[in-house]
Amino acid sequence: MLRPGDWLSRKQEGAPLALLTAWDALSGAWVAEAGVDAVLVGDSLAMVALGHATTLPVSLDEMLHHCRAVGRGVASVITDPVAQPLLILDLPFLSYQCSSDEAVAAAGRVLKESPAAAVKLEGAEPETLAVIDRLVRSGIPVMGHLGLTPQSVHQLGFRRQATDPVAQDRLVHQAEALQSAGCFALVLEHVPAELAQRLQQLLAIPVIGIGAGTACDGQVLVTADLLGLTSRQPPFAQPLVNLRQQALPALRQWVAAQRAPTSSAASPAPHC
Ligand code: KIV
Repeated sequence: MLRPGDWLSRKQEGAPLALLTAWDALSGAWVAEAGVDAVLVGDSLAMVALGHATTLPVSLDEMLHHCRAVGRGVASVITDPVAQPLLILDLPFLSYQCSSDEAVAAAGRVLKESPAAAVKLEGAEPETLAVIDRLVRSGIPVMGHLGLTPQSVHQLGFRRQATDPVAQDRLVHQAEALQSAGCFALVLEHVPAELAQRLQQLLAIPVIGIGAGTACDGQVLVTADLLGLTSRQPPFAQPLVNLRQQALPALRQWVAAQRAPTSSAASPAPHC
C-alpha cells in the first residue's frame, strides 16, 4: 500500500499516480484488480450509486457503509493488506463544516469504522484549514480538493473554475495553504491545464488532476464516467468504453425473451 507519507517521494520520483473511485464491492474489486494506487470512495457515489442530483444529501453513515463494501471488494481480489491500494473516503457535506470537534469525530469514525486510511475534504477557507491542521495533528491523513468542489454546487455550479487571473491567483494561495496545513495530496478538478501545471511545479505534494490537463502528478476519475455507465457524463471525462450502451440491448433482449410466447405455448395444443 502506498501510505499517505510516501506520496511526496512518489512525486519526487516522477512516477505518476493513478486513482479511481469505487462505491461498492464490485467496483472496488475492479479498480483494485486494475492496479490503482488508491481507491477514492468519493461522495460522487451520492449521484452515481444513490441517484441524487448532487453530492449534498449523502450522510457519513452511508459513506461508511459504501466504504466497507468497497473494502470487501478490494480484499476479495488482493488478499494481502500490504499490497492493497490506499482507500480514501470523502467526508460528506456538513460532516466537517460545523466545528472542528465534529470534523475530528467524523474523520475518526472513518478510520475506526471503515477500511479507509485517509479522508478528503473540499475547500480552503480559514475554518477548513484549521480543521485540516487539527485532523493531521490527530494522525488522520487528509487530501485536499480545489477547483470544482461539488459540495459548493449551489455557489459554483458544475462549471469550470478559476478561469481568470484573479481567481487563479486565489486558488494558488489556497493550494499553498492546504500544503502548509498538512495535506498529503491535492485534487484539482475542472480548472485550466496551465493552472494545474503551475501548481504541479509549485507544490511539493502531488497534484491529482480531474479535468485539469495532463501536467499533473496523477489523475483521478469517477469510474462510472470512465466506463460509460451513466447517462450524465461530465464534459471532461471521455468514457474509454460505453458499458451502458452495451448493457442496455442485452437487458432489453432478456426482457423481450421473457415476454415472447414460448415455442410450446405458441404451438397448438396436442390432441389427446
Ligand atoms: O467524489 C468524487 O468522486 C470526487 C472525485 C470527482 C475527485 O471527489
